[in-house]
Amino acid sequence: MSHSSNIVWHDSKVTKQERQQMNNHKSAVLWFTGLSGSGKSTVSVELEKKLYELGVHTYRLDGDNVRHGLNNNLGFSPEDRTENIRRIGEVSKLMVDAGLLTLSAFISPYREDRDKVRQILDEDEFIEIFVKASVETCEGRDPKGLYKKARAGEIKGFTGIDAPYEEPLNPELTINTDEQTVEESVSAIVHYLRDKGYLD
Ligand code: PPS
Repeated sequence: MSHSSNIVWHDSKVTKQERQQMNNHKSAVLWFTGLSGSGKSTVSVELEKKLYELGVHTYRLDGDNVRHGLNNNLGFSPEDRTENIRRIGEVSKLMVDAGLLTLSAFISPYREDRDKVRQILDEDEFIEIFVKASVETCEGRDPKGLYKKARAGEIKGFTGIDAPYEEPLNPELTINTDEQTVEESVSAIVHYLRDKGYLD
C-alpha cells in the first residue's frame, strides 16, 4: 500500500544529466543476479576496482552488506526477498539519479521482482547481468558452508536447494563463471559498457 498521497515531489535544480556530464559517463545499474556462490560479489568487487582505475564514479550494493543495515528486518521468505529487492531497486534508482554507475549484487531469485526494478528505471539504465553457474559448481565452492547446512536441513528455503531461482530470460549480459575467469568476466562487462556508450 502506498502512503504517499499527500507528498509532493520536489525537483532539484541540478539534474541527473548535469551530474552525468560532470562525471563524464552515464549512470546506470549493473544488476548482478545468480545463485549463492555463483560469483556475484567476486566479479562486482573486481569490476568496481577496474572502473575506479578508469575514473568511473561507482557504488556497490551487496546482499550481505545491505542485510546488515537497511534491510536488517528482512529474512528469506518469498515476501521478504521481494521487499529486499524492492528497497534495493529504489536505492539503486537514487544512486543512478546521483550519477553513479551502481553495482547491485543480489540473488534476486524472482523474475518479476527484477523486472519491477527494470520498470522504475529508464530503458538504458538497467543492465541485467546473469552470473551463471550450476548448483553443482556453487555447492562445490560453498564459500560460506551454507549449501552444506541447507543439505543437512539446518537452513530451510535455501536458493537452488529448496527455494527457487528463476533465470533471466533476456539478460543484457551473461557471465558464465563455470568457464570464465574473474578477469574475463570483468573485461566482458567493461567491453559491453564501452560498446553501448556508458563509458568512453
Ligand atoms: S535475495 O534472495 O536476493 O533476497 O538474497 P540476498 O539479499 O542476495 O542475500 C543472499 C545471501 O544471504 C545468505 N543466505 C541465503 N541465501 C539464499 N537462501 C537462503 N535461505 C539464505 N540464508 C542466508 C547467503 O550468504 C547469500 O549470499 P551470497 O552472496 O548470494 O552467497
